[in-house]
Amino acid sequence: MARIGDIGAAVIGSGFIGTVHVEALRRIGVRVVGILDATPELAARRADELGVAHAYGSLGELVDDPDVQVVHVTSPNELHHPQVRQILAAGRHVICEKPLAMTSAQSDELVRLAAASGVVHAVNFNIRFYPLNQHLAEEVRSGALGDVRLVSGHYLQDWLALDTDWNWRLETERGGELRAVGDIGSHWLDLVTSIAGLRVEAVMADLETFIKVRRKPAGPVETFATDRSSETIPTPIRTEDVATILLRFEGGARGLVAISQVSHGRKNSLRYEIDGSTAAAAWHSEDPDTLWIGHREAPNEILLRNPALMGEAGRAAARLPGGHVEGFGDTFAAAFRAVYADVLAGRPSQRPPYATFADGHEEMLVGDAIAESARSGRWTAVVRPADAGGRS
Ligand SMILES: NC(=O)c1ccc[n+]([C@@H]2O[C@H](COP(=O)([O-])OP(=O)(O)OC[C@H]3O[C@@H](n4cnc5c(N)ncnc54)[C@H](O)[C@@H]3O)[C@@H](O)[C@H]2O)c1
Repeated sequence: MARIGDIGAAVIGSGFIGTVHVEALRRIGVRVVGILDATPELAARRADELGVAHAYGSLGELVDDPDVQVVHVTSPNELHHPQVRQILAAGRHVICEKPLAMTSAQSDELVRLAAASGVVHAVNFNIRFYPLNQHLAEEVRSGALGDVRLVSGHYLQDWLALDTDWNWRLETERGGELRAVGDIGSHWLDLVTSIAGLRVEAVMADLETFIKVRRKPAGPVETFATDRSSETIPTPIRTEDVATILLRFEGGARGLVAISQVSHGRKNSLRYEIDGSTAAAAWHSEDPDTLWIGHREAPNEILLRNPALMGEAGRAAARLPGGHVEGFGDTFAAAFRAVYADVLAGRPSQRPPYATFADGHEEMLVGDAIAESARSGRWTAVVRPADAGGRS
């Protein structure tokens, strides 16, 4: 039986989130063998800064390295599909950042290729791995809320609130047709559907681009960077700043969510409330060690994250005792622990707690319905060709 320290991983992209991947891999004991970046020079500099032994000159060189069993894809969205294809063709396990691809046709192809290759495949919807979210998902499965009736919430950020704010995500050809929805709405949707155990059946979506022209810096900008001193070029924007979406879930539950990247003061605020027939639960990413549990005929409860008070799933995601706050970075280690358990077993498990490529594809299909609903101004069903026997 291989041990975690025997496994070698490579990371593609070493920006905001690639760095978090490298740190989390080290925490769980996986060797980070090398990194690949936009240029060999950048990769060499970043490998030096992060203390990673090797900088690859190309993806071909990376996938040919016999020391690498798992590849983490943390490059901009447009690169996920071609890079993951090449990684799968080389028979390596893969953890891809969200969104899995630019289109549902691409993500559908990756689902098929991953299944055919037999490797472990994951999409990094890390927010599932806050311990209280794992705990609540287990509670909902065991009927603690009764039948789910209403799922409401928001995902609000402010880092794109000014016309001088710039990032590759704003460009349709680099980030995708949907921006706020694809970038952060996909997290909310994956989270609530995985906790509630419900798929989205139909949506009624309204998208708005409030900042229609942005001042694009002449040089590159890092994600969440605030320095706006450089020369700028007025650039039209087609992707949405804000989305409001009504949801109907299979089985009849209803939902609504507001998504925004222009909400002043909200740095990274994801909230949900799930109202069931016998109880309710609510959680907020800015206070992640607290779960509110609502009752009609008894006092409400506050569960502070505590391995001694959570079920098995919550305990598996937690590392610290209650009162010692776990946060964003910890979710990566918890998610990777779950994925690497399958890597050690050499194959995907039946119902893994982490998001697979099928889950990543599901978010692309829901995104298609959201985009279509916003265009037509009508309720739009999520079309899943695989459900009609379309998948071979
Ligand atoms: N799960 C999460 O919470 C989370 C958070 C942030 C970003 N993300 C996702 O991670 C991905 C990266 O986002 P980011 O915010 O880190 O972006 P970023 O711009 O900070 O980093 C992107 C990195 O990719 C590199 N890169 C560009 N072209 C490349 C190429 N051809 N080959 C290899 N590397 C290349 C860049 O040089 C940079 O190092 C996106 O898909 C994003 O949606 C996920």
